[in-house]
Amino acid sequence: MRFADKVAIVTGGGSGIGRAAAEKFAREGAKVVVADLNSESGTATAAAIKEQKGEAAYFPVDVSSYESVQSLVQQSVELYGKLDIMFNNAGIGNGQYTVLDMPIEQYHRTVAVNQHGVFYGIKAAGNAMKDTGGVIINTASIYGFIADRKQFPYHASKGAVVMMTKSAALELARYNIRVVGIAPGLIETNIVSEWRQNEAVWKQIEKAQMRGKAGTPEEVANVAAFLASDEASFMNGHVFCVDDGSAS
Ligand code: NAI
Repeated sequence: MRFADKVAIVTGGGSGIGRAAAEKFAREGAKVVVADLNSESGTATAAAIKEQKGEAAYFPVDVSSYESVQSLVQQSVELYGKLDIMFNNAGIGNGQYTVLDMPIEQYHRTVAVNQHGVFYGIKAAGNAMKDTGGVIINTASIYGFIADRKQFPYHASKGAVVMMTKSAALELARYNIRVVGIAPGLIETNIVSEWRQNEAVWKQIEKAQMRGKAGTPEEVANVAAFLASDEASFMNGHVFCVDDGSAS
């Protein structure tokens, strides 16, 4: 029970990595706020945690709006009394466009959710944790370190998450707030459903991985839980790849 008496917010908690992390935090004793744009999946995650005798609540959030993120943090602190762990995990892909064909609106939306959303989470949670300390975990991607085709705004936003993690860690250290990041490789979740739908394409993508398969949301959630725990008390300001070596 590494998170007994801890309060955690998980954005994008309705699906994939966020859902696995919310369930893992709750199993280890945390009171979890499942925050997601999608109320159906967010509510379902909170219900699943409660069924397993955990403590959870669903709050709607659009991480691309600072007002929405600030209200999420305020409501969470009102409900559970404090905030110990902020997992800025919500994210979206950018569709299948080259940089030359990228619709301007698509670029802006990807950056608004993946990059600005993480900034808003750091700012709102950091202010809530100033007197108590805490841990902020940001989900980047191996695409914050290496390039692929048709991922231009995704790269821009995830590269920004890597540097925002370092920058925030430096500034928030004085409040005993650690800021770390996770850079997943290929993980089988809804975000890769476009590739997943075509069995041949999916097989090819999986084959290109170091051991020929995608990771699971739980394999990323395990690392998030470790980083959020006191076992990682001397880990700060870095972004850790969970990618079976793809970006190595
Ligand atoms: P997912 O699609 O299963 O989960 C993303 C969740 O974020 C969804 O529940 C969605 O409703 C929510 N969301 C989307 N926009 C939002 C917004 N504006 N406000 C609040 N919630 C919003 O995908 P997955 O894979 O679990 O994604 C989690 C994070 O992991 C993302 O940041 C993604 O970029 C990152 N990631 C995923 C990889 C993969 O291969 N699955 C690889 C590298 C990074």
